[in-house]
Amino acid sequence: MKEYLQKCKLIFEKQLEDTLQKYKSEIQPIYDALCYAVSNGGKRIRPALCYLGAEFCGKDEEYVKDMAVGIEMIHSYSLVHDDLPCMDDDELRRGKPTVHVAFGEGMAVLVGDALLNLAFEVMLQSDDFDSNSLKAVRYIAKYAGMSGMIGGQCLDLANENNINIGIRELSEINRLKTSCLLKAALLSGAAKCGATDQELADLGAYADKLGEIFQIVDDILDRTSTEEELGKQVNQDSANGKTSVVDIFGIKEAKKYIDKLQSEALEKLAKYGSRAAKLCELCKFLSDRSN
Ligand code: IPE
Ligand code: IPE
Ligand code: MG
Ligand code: MG
Ligand code: MG
Repeated sequence: MKEYLQKCKLIFEKQLEDTLQKYKSEIQPIYDALCYAVSNGGKRIRPALCYLGAEFCGKDEEYVKDMAVGIEMIHSYSLVHDDLPCMDDDELRRGKPTVHVAFGEGMAVLVGDALLNLAFEVMLQSDDFDSNSLKAVRYIAKYAGMSGMIGGQCLDLANENNINIGIRELSEINRLKTSCLLKAALLSGAAKCGATDQELADLGAYADKLGEIFQIVDDILDRTSTEEELGKQVNQDSANGKTSVVDIFGIKEAKKYIDKLQSEALEKLAKYGSRAAKLCELCKFLSDRSN
């Protein structure tokens, strides 16, 4: 899986560079800051999920490239805004100073806005845009917004310093702020390639669990890893008054909880056999990731 993700990252970064060249702005300061935010770095898990959605339906990375680029632009924008002083106040991201540190807060707000708009411009560019593509972009619009990632970020902020928050509420926040973009990536790839409603429902249920796992591992790594390994500051959650699953369960039990979520995720795809083999591998790999 490590090699597969490495391969996806290479394919994706070529697609991204080509897209950024094509959409070069004559307003150099915003274009430079936008490229800084989205280029060179990141694990590129969401593009990989988009490709896997396509592969699940027999298509390749090229066929869903606009969706892959769009979703990673939205993810990168969410990180730029998440790092702002009024949100998590972080100074390091993907091994570099955060956008507001490098370019100022005003520019960081604008870079986020510009990435969100460019994502949709890119995804809607094709002249042979069909009904499957429309369905794919609808998933992304919905899951990136108020009923998805933004909604989760809102609840995450609202619950700062809430030490009485329970596992149910935390699961809901994690599902919204993190699962929703992973789900948008997978479902957009699959929908564009003609997945059936039942397949989309099963893939969506898998991605809900995968995202919860992904966020809990992120919360564990915030406690146990290093700035060098993660490319971002550590011990930020407690500094920001964020109660996480790790606070409720402790690290050992949180890992057991991840195992339970992993079984549930794999269960959702069991009926697809080898068609879903890579998705199952990915879930196991991300449950045990170190960065
Ligand atoms: C970080 O996402 C934000 C979370 C949802 C936990 P990633 O861990 O995918 O960040 P990059 O894209 O690899 O930098
Ligand atoms: C961020 O979660 C989720 C987003 C939707 C951006 P975190 O705030 O824990 O992500 P990191 O740790 O800053 O990458
Ligand atoms: Mg945050
Ligand atoms: Mg953060
Ligand atoms: Mg975190």
